Amino acid sequence: MCGIVGAVATRPVAEILLEGLRRLEYRGYDSAGMALCDQGDIKRLRRAGKVQALADLLAEQPQTGTTGIAHTRWATHGKPTEANAHPHMSGARLAVVHNGIIENYEPLREMLKTEGYRFDSDTDTEVVAHLLDHTLKSGVSLTDALRQSVARLEGAFALGVVHADFPEQLLAARKGSPLVVGVGIGENFIASDQLALLPVTDRFMFMEEGDIACLTLNQIQIFDRQGSLVQRPVTQFEHGQAAADKGHFKHFMLKEIFEQPEVMQRVLEGRISNGHLLEQAWGVNAAAVFDQTNRVQIVACGTSYHAGMIARYWIESLVGIPCNVEVASEFRYRDVVLSDDTLLITLSQSGETADTLAALREVKQRVLASLAICNVPGSSLVRESDLALMTNAGPEIGVASTKAFTSQLVALLMTTLILGRRKGLSTETEQQLVGALQALPELIESLLELNDPVAKMAEAFAEKHHALFLGRGSLYPVAMEGALKLKEISYIHAEAYPAGELKHGPLALVDKDMPVIAVAPNNDMLDKLKSNLQEVRARGGELFVFTGCGQSIRDEEGVSTLTLPAVHPLLEPLAYTLPLQLLSYHVAVLKGTDVDQPRNLAKSVTVE
Ligand code: G6P
Repeated sequence: MCGIVGAVATRPVAEILLEGLRRLEYRGYDSAGMALCDQGDIKRLRRAGKVQALADLLAEQPQTGTTGIAHTRWATHGKPTEANAHPHMSGARLAVVHNGIIENYEPLREMLKTEGYRFDSDTDTEVVAHLLDHTLKSGVSLTDALRQSVARLEGAFALGVVHADFPEQLLAARKGSPLVVGVGIGENFIASDQLALLPVTDRFMFMEEGDIACLTLNQIQIFDRQGSLVQRPVTQFEHGQAAADKGHFKHFMLKEIFEQPEVMQRVLEGRISNGHLLEQAWGVNAAAVFDQTNRVQIVACGTSYHAGMIARYWIESLVGIPCNVEVASEFRYRDVVLSDDTLLITLSQSGETADTLAALREVKQRVLASLAICNVPGSSLVRESDLALMTNAGPEIGVASTKAFTSQLVALLMTTLILGRRKGLSTETEQQLVGALQALPELIESLLELNDPVAKMAEAFAEKHHALFLGRGSLYPVAMEGALKLKEISYIHAEAYPAGELKHGPLALVDKDMPVIAVAPNNDMLDKLKSNLQEVRARGGELFVFTGCGQSIRDEEGVSTLTLPAVHPLLEPLAYTLPLQLLSYHVAVLKGTDVDQPRNLAKSVTVE
């Protein structure tokens, strides 16, 4: 977790760093700070709390330094206080920012204490600053000192370093946590994510595992883990700057919900030709891998896990091969039984989620191949997988995932069709489903028209403390995702159950204070679901039913319905997700919570 940004320029960089931190707040917002090389000294400013607190401090104390590093923190070691805020310093001349975890910080700390270093924080980061200072004393260059210090660190981390004696240098190291170099003209940058640097550049180099970088005004030197000078390719950022701004929307989450028609378009782009899917889009070896796939194992966390659960219904019914789905934090520590005809699919918006990445690393040698379905092209997950399919949803800023989820569903349905081809799925069925996918942007547009009635429905939830979501079949994971959204951003306790499980426990909770949300398309499970809803009504529970046209559930006392347009049965999970996203959004707005940055959560969970 945590976000890093750094700059070396001829102009003052404080505002560039601050804007970078604002764009990285999705990675954590417990404290913020920066260190600037200024006239032979280091100026450090830090504040507990959100980046705005640091902005207020900067307004009082404007800074002119032209080289600097900055950090927004998601606390792991030590409380979210100012003393634990980054940058951390060794003496008055060396400052370090850090994202990730230094696992062996305790023995290093003891060693450094015996060398006379004093520790002012509870963080693991401070050992890096002192270790670097200690190494520098042997007379090596700053770059060599960083390389030697990093070699002694265990864990997963990204680092940014400045030193008052070398004010023209900005150093960076990457081992296990993301870091990009932003290429400017007469100025250069580093950041945890390209998004942070879009106001100053759209050209980036992705640091590889073990790389150390030394940036000056006109030069970027990258050394690999062997210490050899290497060239990393420069890539152009694709989505344009607008993606990082809220536009006329009140929150990023709402903007991202409303972006979904174009996101559906983007995820399909370049993958369809003449009504059929192009398997090269999955990677050069994709055809050979898919030929040998007889099982699928999906691993993911959070919202991405729910996408995986939906895909299981698709894969088992259309491809006819077994598909298991598991949360990464459990999977990685279990004695899993895998066969060499298994395709491992990891799902992740960020591609940096620690548990998902660890699960991939744990089992990739024991499966046929790994496929990452991911939204961030340069991410660790993508780079370490055999095959990858980008979801192309564009940057997602709201902590609660929306467009990333629906784009994953499209990517998963396309993957299902590609696998199905080998197991007898007819060309006709593929073409029919591809047609339905191509009609998705319009479908989503029509679903967004439900925004006003959903906002009205949300009023019934603002005073509630609990909610129960029900669904059957592939709509059960949709109910789970609906419950997750509601609890994440409105802090209402919400649970999801397969509707058939209602009378095995949760029915005991149902009374007039427990709203029950049913995801009930007009499909062959509807009659079963209706009986479950009768059980709720009989106990005085208030029902909110999202359903399709042509069925017989009507609005009446205690029952509110919202009717969705007719959709292809396989696309029901996608369609029914939309109004549930809107529902949680409007409930959160009514409750006045921090919609885009809900308490205690972070967008990208790069620690276990
Ligand atoms: C965090 C985010 C969720 C996300 C999950 C998995 O918990 O708040 O929105 O679903 O991580 O992240 P990933 O990037 O792997 O999809």
